[in-house]
Amino acid sequence: MTHIQITPSILNADFARLGEEVARIGSADWVHVDVMDNHFVPNLTFGPTMVEALARSTDLPLDAHLMIEDADREALAYVDAGCGSVTFHVEAAKAPVRLAREIRAAGARASMALKPATPVDPYEDLLPELDMLLIMTVEPGFGGQKFLDLCLPKIRRARELMAKHGVETWLQVDGGVSLETIERCAEAGADVFVAGSAVYSSDDPDRMIGELRAKAASAAG
Ligand code: DX5
Ligand code: ZN
Repeated sequence: MTHIQITPSILNADFARLGEEVARIGSADWVHVDVMDNHFVPNLTFGPTMVEALARSTDLPLDAHLMIEDADREALAYVDAGCGSVTFHVEAAKAPVRLAREIRAAGARASMALKPATPVDPYEDLLPELDMLLIMTVEPGFGGQKFLDLCLPKIRRARELMAKHGVETWLQVDGGVSLETIERCAEAGADVFVAGSAVYSSDDPDRMIGELRAKAASAAG
């Protein structure tokens, strides 16, 4: 049976009170941390120093999503900062195999992300090198965007390729995931769900996590 995980993104949380904001999502499996450098995406968030402070403020594991140009050189700083999972973008990485191996060797889960227009087929041979594949369901850069249905066939295809290679890579979706869209993602084969605005625009973020989890679980069967 599929193990459903909910990983709220703090991108739409109150950055001046991050410790308290993370305390509102105690039932999350991971805290999804969106690192943006204003080059790979037209938005700027935070770097390893803030991520390290966040790691010290919570018992939840951190899932770093690096939307940065220089992933090859900077990814390990997020393992050192205390992240249990580090995702780089294949469109940014110059040597994705080496980078995934370095992340694993440093003791974190290695994950690779695909933007909406990046196909999964060219990367099927990399799947055994990865602990998770992230399929973006919006263009990266901002929270609160509309879910892109055109990404659903790629989620299905990624699941097929994982079965073909006999790997149990987690399949994460990120962008526009809500009570409206999470079932489509789960049916297509996703098992790790990032939700930013859906969780943080709710009066009770922890209850929303439970609702998302229940919908995904029933759709996954
Ligand atoms: C977008 C980020 C997402 C974003 C999700 O570039 O990677 O993690 O915060 O936010 P929602 O769920 O609002 O689309
Ligand atoms: Zn993200």
